[in-house]
Amino acid sequence: MALHNRFEIKDPSLAGVGKQRIEWAYREMPVVKLIRERFSAEKPLKGIRISACLHITTETANLALTLKEAGADLILCASNPLSTQDDVAAALVDDGIPTNAINGEDETTYYKHINTALDNKPQLTVDDGADLVTTLHTKRSDLIGNVIGGTEETTTGVVRLRSLEKAGKLRYPIIAVNDAQTKYLFDNRYGTGQSTIDGITRATNILWAGKKVVICGYGWCGHGIALRAKGLGSQVIVTEVEPVRALEAIMDGYQVMPLLEAARVGDIFVTTTGNKNVIDKVHFQAMKDGAILANSGHFNVEINIPALESLSHSKRRIRAFVDEYTLDDGRHLYLLGEGRLVNLAAAEGHPASVMDMSFANQALCLEYLTKSRGSLGSRVYPVPEEIDKQVARLKLQAMGIDIDSLTPEQREYLTSWEKGT
Ligand SMILES: NC(=O)c1ccc[n+]([C@@H]2O[C@H](COP(=O)([O-])OP(=O)(O)OC[C@H]3O[C@@H](n4cnc5c(N)ncnc54)[C@H](O)[C@@H]3O)[C@@H](O)[C@H]2O)c1
Repeated sequence: MALHNRFEIKDPSLAGVGKQRIEWAYREMPVVKLIRERFSAEKPLKGIRISACLHITTETANLALTLKEAGADLILCASNPLSTQDDVAAALVDDGIPTNAINGEDETTYYKHINTALDNKPQLTVDDGADLVTTLHTKRSDLIGNVIGGTEETTTGVVRLRSLEKAGKLRYPIIAVNDAQTKYLFDNRYGTGQSTIDGITRATNILWAGKKVVICGYGWCGHGIALRAKGLGSQVIVTEVEPVRALEAIMDGYQVMPLLEAARVGDIFVTTTGNKNVIDKVHFQAMKDGAILANSGHFNVEINIPALESLSHSKRRIRAFVDEYTLDDGRHLYLLGEGRLVNLAAAEGHPASVMDMSFANQALCLEYLTKSRGSLGSRVYPVPEEIDKQVARLKLQAMGIDIDSLTPEQREYLTSWEKGT
């Protein structure tokens, strides 16, 4: 099919800017670079049709160019209508990769673009949130016979796919890239950690030193945000519902208390739970005048915005990404990025260096699925351990860092049940 029938973007003239930004990100993606060099020589995906639904960003562009170099027939669509970088979409089309993504597209266009990507009759799917896979399993199930396998990038997508598997309705093998150690330990922790602080800083220009920062949810994202806020001199308070994680937060040096208590003292609140209405009406009622509210967890549901609206008599956009709510009692609360992921709304999402590892997993898993054709069942699989370890080794190699290896004696000691003290 000709390229011109298969793409829809905002403005082709943005390609030059997009290419420069893609090149800039590539400098920080040495593992993807090493994989691209090998793929270029070996062409492990030669002629394989891939439909990929991902955030259309500079890092994704570098993954896409790597898959193209591997010989794949790749088509892209956006996994989120708001995260598309229109210059990147233009650059990809200019490089011969059909891309269907326009920043701010409505839901009809979003699904039209997913359907255009599926028109490629994929043999492999790449998804971030499982919208493409769900469409394939429902409205386009006639195409499933072609599919060898797929990959899923994020927590929410993996949760949906596990439900599909549990219902006995998953029709091909999918690898949960999100669950690789080289993904969540770095992407969720250091990526979300840094970029959340970045988003809040860009939106507000606040000084972190001396502020009381309340972090709701001490998962990997919460760990990262807490660590970086502490490093900037904030006093960090963690709220949790899970006792082990609460204990861990205490021993990591943070205060832990119920949110209602924290609400009375916090200056900045950040949700990162994957849950809904975590900050609710009772909490808004207890907050200090001037409190700042941000979400870096799931969608726009962690902060109960309708409840905030119901308590307010007016709202104004006081600064880009900052909405000032004036409550009936005269207090002001400041909601950042309309309660959507603040690191993507007000900053640039994860730095390329962490996406390097996430997307290295993607590329290697797609190669693995192709090689394993026919031998995997219709299940959600973990990333093979050898791929996870290989990504870590390549990242260390790119950083110029050597580590020790076990001696034969140590290997035997660690694997033998006969050796005691
Ligand atoms: N902003 C980003 O770019 C980005 C990146 C990666 C993940 N995420 C999202 O962030 C969320 C968290 O990811 P994670 O990897 O840290 O998940 P996780 O499951 O490791 O951690 C979530 C934590 O929140 C806690 N929690 C749940 N409900 C709570 C409540 N009402 N109050 C307090 N704590 C509560 C859980 O006990 C858990 O410890 C997910 O929705 C994930 O999809 C966002």
